[in-house]
Amino acid sequence: MDQTLYFILLLTALCSVSECVQRQYHFINVRKNWTEAQRHCRENYTDLATVDNMTDMNELKKSVNDGGVQYIWIGLQKKWQWSSGEPALYLNWGFAQPDGKDECAMIRNGEWGDWSCSKSLTFICNSSNNRLVFVNQMKNWRDAQSFCRQNHIDLVSVRNQNENQQIQKFINDSHISNDVWIGLFRDSWQWSDQSNFSFTAWAPGEPNNAGGNENCTVIEPKALGHWLDITCNFQLPFVCHEDKLILITENLTWTEAMRYCRQNYTDLVSVHSVEMQNEVMNVVKRASTEAVWLGLRHSCTVGFWFWVSGETVCYQNWAPGNGTGDEDCVSAVRSGAVQSGGDQRWISRPEHDKLNFICSRYEE
Ligand SMILES: *[C@@H]1O[C@H](CO)[C@@H](O)[C@H](O)[C@H]1NC(C)=O
Ligand SMILES: *[C@@H]1O[C@H](CO)[C@@H](O)[C@H](O)[C@H]1NC(C)=O
Ligand SMILES: *[C@@H]1O[C@H](CO)[C@@H](O)[C@H](O)[C@H]1NC(C)=O
Ligand SMILES: *[C@@H]1O[C@H](CO)[C@@H](O)[C@H](O)[C@H]1NC(C)=O
Ligand SMILES: *[C@@H]1O[C@H](CO)[C@@H](O)[C@H](O)[C@H]1NC(C)=O
Ligand SMILES: *[C@@H]1O[C@H](CO)[C@@H](O)[C@H](O)[C@H]1NC(C)=O
Ligand SMILES: *[C@@H]1O[C@H](CO)[C@@H](O)[C@H](O)[C@H]1NC(C)=O
Repeated sequence: MDQTLYFILLLTALCSVSECVQRQYHFINVRKNWTEAQRHCRENYTDLATVDNMTDMNELKKSVNDGGVQYIWIGLQKKWQWSSGEPALYLNWGFAQPDGKDECAMIRNGEWGDWSCSKSLTFICNSSNNRLVFVNQMKNWRDAQSFCRQNHIDLVSVRNQNENQQIQKFINDSHISNDVWIGLFRDSWQWSDQSNFSFTAWAPGEPNNAGGNENCTVIEPKALGHWLDITCNFQLPFVCHEDKLILITENLTWTEAMRYCRQNYTDLVSVHSVEMQNEVMNVVKRASTEAVWLGLRHSCTVGFWFWVSGETVCYQNWAPGNGTGDEDCVSAVRSGAVQSGGDQRWISRPEHDKLNFICSRYEE
């Protein structure tokens, strides 16, 4: 048989849709506190479990192969963050602070403490040109935040020791002796792997912060997998997850990217269905290049596109004008990438462009 024809037949024979799960869950029946559990998951898998929908919830419950356990950690926790939206990486709590009972932060002698957000204090806004503005009006934290946002930029962020000293100096120079609100607060739940937090499965009446510092989350597999907020230092078994698609933020040519994925994972990703396209759209958000390599390759010999994993391109999501098979075969071999912004459609690029890429752990 003509080799080209054989190749076409081989590919078309494989046009089927495979089911895809976004993450695989691993139940670890060893007791650790939340932070140790997180470390274990990050070292051995992707992270402490994220749950985005009912399918995830059911997969996670299935992974728990010990009917005796009551509580299991998942990757949800309440963390301190800045009013500006930045994560709080630098923290300068005073002695015995935060005591875990309160959700907003003030500064006193350069050290921070947590206070009830409903307390009235003066506050510092960040204004244009990085100027600090002391507002000598007593407001609760939310009203202080609104005031700063309306009249300046936001409540001030303190991101390192240097900024902390600048603010304390500013406070000294302004002769302020009372506690002053800064932009630090804690109210939102966050997934350990930074996934969007939207799906929830709290038990009735939860989260209730009953013990005062219940900033971590367990599921109760025997009670429908409902979630409860509890203190992070309990020693409990936990569930890790492993992402099936991995965005690599190195800039490589298509061939280098394929080699990288085949050595370290299974292959460059193949996108066979709208479900897989959705997963791809989820991971490319973090890309640093405007397009991200897929396992899509054009053959000038046969004049069409195929997945390097060996399948035909059945499901398609090309940008207009792309993927026609009618490619410039003179200057460079073409490979397929997905746009990291906009419609996130597929586009044809010369193979030596250097782009981020997505590796897959799916076994084809
Ligand atoms: C939970 O809150 C307590 C008290 O505020 C704090 O000491 C602890 O580090 C927090 N745990 C996590 C995982 O954020
Ligand atoms: C103040 O706001 C500007 C503009 O948003 C930002 O670039 C700067 O980092 C902020 N500085 C502080 C100390 O919050
Ligand atoms: C602010 O004033 C306090 C008390 O007078 C002093 O201990 C501290 O060193 C001063 N800090 C700065 C950054 O000026
Ligand atoms: C995640 O949240 C951001 C900001 O709210 C939103 O723009 C984005 O569409 C969300 N992504 C997903 C996959 O839900
Ligand atoms: C990859 O390229 C993008 C866009 O040119 C750039 O912003 C990014 O820093 C590069 N990343 C690496 C790891 O070189
Ligand atoms: C596999 O991954 C490592 C980084 O984890 C990288 O240094 C190496 O180059 C990769 N392999 C290939 C063939 O690219
Ligand atoms: C492929 O899509 C991109 C993005 O929409 C567009 O700029 C480009 O012109 C298209 N290529 C062709 C050959 O139409």
